[in-house]
Amino acid sequence: MKVTFDDIKAAQSTIQDLILKTPCEISSSCSKLVGSDIYLKLENNQRTGSFKMRGAANKIASLSAQEKAKGVVACSAGNHAQGVALSASLSHVKSVIVMPETAPLTKVQATQNYGAEVILHGQSFDEAKEYAFQLADQKSYVFVHPYEDEKVIAGQGTIGLEIAEQVADLDTIIAPIGGGGLISGAAIALKELNPKIRVIGVQASAVDTMYQLYKTRDFKAPTHTGTIADGIAIKVPSRVMYEKFISRYVDDVVTVADGDVAEAIVFLLERAKSVAEGAGAASLAGVLTGKIKLGKRNCVLVSGGNIDLNMVSQVIQRGQIQRGRLSEMSVIVPDVPGSLSQLTKILALHKANILEVHHDRVKNSLALKETKIDFVIETTSHEHIQKIREALSQWGAKVQ
Ligand SMILES: Cc1ncc(COP(=O)(O)O)c(C=O)c1O
Repeated sequence: MKVTFDDIKAAQSTIQDLILKTPCEISSSCSKLVGSDIYLKLENNQRTGSFKMRGAANKIASLSAQEKAKGVVACSAGNHAQGVALSASLSHVKSVIVMPETAPLTKVQATQNYGAEVILHGQSFDEAKEYAFQLADQKSYVFVHPYEDEKVIAGQGTIGLEIAEQVADLDTIIAPIGGGGLISGAAIALKELNPKIRVIGVQASAVDTMYQLYKTRDFKAPTHTGTIADGIAIKVPSRVMYEKFISRYVDDVVTVADGDVAEAIVFLLERAKSVAEGAGAASLAGVLTGKIKLGKRNCVLVSGGNIDLNMVSQVIQRGQIQRGRLSEMSVIVPDVPGSLSQLTKILALHKANILEVHHDRVKNSLALKETKIDFVIETTSHEHIQKIREALSQWGAKVQ
């Protein structure tokens, strides 16, 4: 597999009328926080809500008339599905997307709305993929791989060209890594224009298979694959992507925990008024944790924004806890009249707003005449939480 700068330039002129030129603007709050210029490439504003349109559109445009007449097939319950569906519709090509039977209804509907035929098959992603291969064989559909494909990588690389047009003299670019198509394409484009630019990849620590391959040339399959950055959770990393691209063009890879990703999602919502999904916010999480050596001018790729609405509230809560803006506390106090009012008085004195209270008098672990009060309070920082804990302890409560 080989992708050149010229392939990416060609992809740019091929897909320019199908995709949006997304904003790439400096974030003053993020820059201030980390002490270097941080530009956010907001690809969550791309059509279908992620960069995936770029690669899919370039692949579909490259097909022969005969292939286009037959149609394409892909396996994905995520952004690739939507990218393939819309690109195919815009080119009047039939698309079939295979998803596992467990795929969320919202993903199925979104993909259908972009014009694809969705087939639910199998209990796992692997079973669905096997079926997609079978369909490609039986019906002569072209299989659109999400990353192991030269045209797809060249399409994703157009994001690098766009960034170079939007921001001059970048020192570092930070991008999420799933299969590796996005970072590879972007790196090939940007390094041709500026060989000194550093390209840093970010993976979720729960599923850090490409990180392991990068650091140790080997990997261990994760024991579970749950992470809020589900778009980059690839169980088995692609050796060909590692050998041909990641090992050559990527200068370092770091990992981020789910809490860090949640914090980055909240940061983007609050400061940039921008909705990112877990995978989309992972690169910013890498920057905010301080794990990445930054240059003077850096660009963070916010790669997608397709987050389930019911996930947003959970993530906001997690991100708020991580930042000390929300605290869950359990305190054990004497079970006597006035305890609760004394406790709330201390919280009021420290300007902590109570959101939830739960009173428990029968827990096995409690001594007689003790009661446990769990509460959720709004706070301003970790220092604020510490002060409240000290004040409660001084009063005589056992703070857990
Ligand atoms: C939002 C988002 N970011 C990043 C990625 C990773 O892209 P790649 O597989 O090309 O590394 C994906 C993959 O689906 C994604 O959906």
